[in-house]
Order: sequence, then structure tokens, then C-alpha cells
Amino acid sequence: TEASLFDKAKDTIEFLKSRLPSPLLAPRVAIVCGSGLGGLADTVHSSPKAEYDYSDIPHFPQLTVTGHSGKLVFGLLAGKVPAVLMVGRAHFYEGHSIDQVTFPIRVFKLMGIETIFLTNAAGGLNPEYAVGDIVVLNDHIFLAGLAGIHPLRGPNEPEFGVRFPALSDAYDLELRCSVHNAWKSKASETSRRLHEGVYAFVGGPSYETRAECRMLHLLGADVVGMSTVPEIVVARHCGIRVAALSLVTNKAVLSPVPRGDDSFLHTRDADELGAIMTEGKANHEEVIEAGRAAAFDMQMLVQAVVLNMWAA
Ligand code: HPA
Repeated sequence: TEASLFDKAKDTIEFLKSRLPSPLLAPRVAIVCGSGLGGLADTVHSSPKAEYDYSDIPHFPQLTVTGHSGKLVFGLLAGKVPAVLMVGRAHFYEGHSIDQVTFPIRVFKLMGIETIFLTNAAGGLNPEYAVGDIVVLNDHIFLAGLAGIHPLRGPNEPEFGVRFPALSDAYDLELRCSVHNAWKSKASETSRRLHEGVYAFVGGPSYETRAECRMLHLLGADVVGMSTVPEIVVARHCGIRVAALSLVTNKAVLSPVPRGDDSFLHTRDADELGAIMTEGKANHEEVIEAGRAAAFDMQMLVQAVVLNMWAA
């Protein structure tokens, strides 16, 4: 029979423990860096520091998307707080099982991690949001999870948590307050805005149609993305506190394509129709580029929260 996730995570822990220098064995916090948001790892001073490619770590999922590399970095964040950072994450759309995507969270649990920050790039559904805005998540909509594509499906592993975990308090209030407080003290340095909002998980890899965007917004979602939620579910199952931040890298299209009216189509030239269809169209390069431009502020925000909490 297949080894339990608990046994696999123990394998991984054994691998890491046998290699990590002792000052790095007990990180206070884990940070999962989303697409283009790995710069935080550069604030980890070079000594002590240890890095492992996902391809070298037992049971870690391999990454396949351009713009994403995969390594686990241990060190002192800003030279002060013992941390472990995931630079790049595995996504469900790459073909990994939902168990593989969330496996690193279980490893963090066995390392004694009690707090995780997750960052991601997301599409903005809330019309108030601009590209480059940052959203502190306060809830999620997990359509796949509701339909049974869920990381806790299967026999419950009691070493991690209970069969029927609550998610009504998944997004830690104290951590959210810390994010807002840290942002307030930096607000004068940027015109960027910080919101609180609801994240809708989609499987990807295609971006959403206009009708799908309207549906998700109608259901109460403010941002949409292809990560984070499965990890949050697994983290909450095993009692880890989580905070999650989305960087709005594009505005998800909301205006419907005019249709059903022949005269509309016949009286317009091909260029004009082409422009209507292209407006707001999402693309991967745009997502990566907006990430790069705004990543710095987001990284400084996470760093400020971590320093406020642990470096005192
Ligand atoms: N949709 C889904 N995932 C995303 C998007 C989007 O518009 N932007 C960045 N990740």
C-alpha cells in the first residue's frame, strides 16, 4: 500500500535534518513566494543559509512553468528571523496531484512551523482594484474543493488534524491586522493600495472567459488565481496560522462581448471587432511583468510583518 503523507513528510524531514546547519533547523515562519515574488529570498543573508532545489528533495513536486524556478531556502530573513522560503510553487494545472501540490505544507508542519505567509499573483475581479494593488485575503471560494477535488479527500491522517476541519476562521485575524499596520507605516512611500478580499481558486491553466469572470465576481470573489487555496486548507487542517497576499497582476475581463445582434457585427470593421475582443485579455507575460514591478513593495510588506512579529 502507498505510504501515508505523514510517512513521506517524515522522509523529507530526515533528508533536511541531516543536511541543515543547526541554526537553521527550527525556522519560525514559512513563506511561500508566488510567481515573480521570490525576491524575498535575496534578503536572506549568505551565512547561515542553505538552499535545496526541489528536484533534490524527497517527494517534493517538480515545477514546469517558465518564470517559475523551484528551491527551498533556509536562513535569517533580513538577517534576523529564522525562516524557510519556497521560491516557486507547484500548481495543480501542471499535472501534479492535489496531494503533491500541498505536500510542502505538511513538511513545514513536521518542522514545527506555526505560521505561514503565502503570496501569489492573481487576476482582479473587483472593479475597484488596479493592476499592482495588493489584497490581504480574508476568505476564499474553492469551487473544485466543494466538488470534491480536495486535498483532504481520502483517509484522514490524524497526525495532521481532524476529519472535518473548520475553515470559517482560516485567515488569521491577528496576522491580517499586522499586515495592515505594517502597510500603514509605509503608506507614504507608495501610491499602491492595500485591500481585503476573497480569492477564488480556479484550476487553470487557461485564463477565465468573460462569463466565468462575471460569475466568480457575482459569487463574491475579488481576485482569481490558480494556487494558494489547497495549501491553506492543508495548513489549517494541521493548525498552522496563515496569512495570504495577492498581487493584482491583471484585471480579469468583466465586460461582456456584444452578441446576438447582427447589425452590431456587420457595421463594424475587423480592426474594431479585434480591439473589442482583445481588450482586457490576460496573458502570462503581463502577469510576470506586473509581478516584477510591484513585487518589491509586496516583499517589503511581508518582511516588515515578520520583523514586527519576531525580531523585537
Ligand atoms: N486568472 C487566474 N489566475 C491568474 C490571473 C487570472 O487572471 N492572473 C494571475 N493569475
